Amino acid sequence: MANRPTSCPAFFILFFTTMAFSCGSQDDTEYSVENISTSEVSQELNGLLAKNTCLGCHRVDKKLIGPSYLEIAKRKYTKEELINLIKQPKPKNWPDYPPMAPMQWVNGEELATIADWIASLEVNE
Ligand code: HEC
Repeated sequence: MANRPTSCPAFFILFFTTMAFSCGSQDDTEYSVENISTSEVSQELNGLLAKNTCLGCHRVDKKLIGPSYLEIAKRKYTKEELINLIKQPKPKNWPDYPPMAPMQWVNGEELATIADWIASLEVNE
């Protein structure tokens, strides 16, 4: 009774690091992005997104807790802008979403690879 489970969006703000475990299983197939036609997601990329917990809140092609990567790609950020936004998110860019926690602990090279990939996504509007 007193311990009713908190809903995920409220939960992640306080415990974003455990997000990936509480809101989704670690099952690779669930996070599979194979049926994306706009861009191919390599095993390497999928691994980086999973490892850095991004997939706990973002899918490539659909809204989850955060906007989809295709939605983000529509904003045409440069790689540098993306790196900065991931380390220091600007929640007012996405008023319909809860604020993303700053991901400053992500390895620089991995972050650059992820940012490069988001910038490379082709979106048909
Ligand atoms: C706990 C959930 C959560 C995790 C984990 C998370 N994000 Fe987010 N992300 C969000 C939400 C919610 C937004 C939209 C609100 C905001 O920008 O603050 C967002 C926004 C973004 C944006 C758009 C920034 C902008 O201002 O347009 C990018 C890029 C992004 N995330 C990349 C990532 C990457 C890469 C990772 C993994 C290193 C990651 N996110 C991990 C929830 C998350």
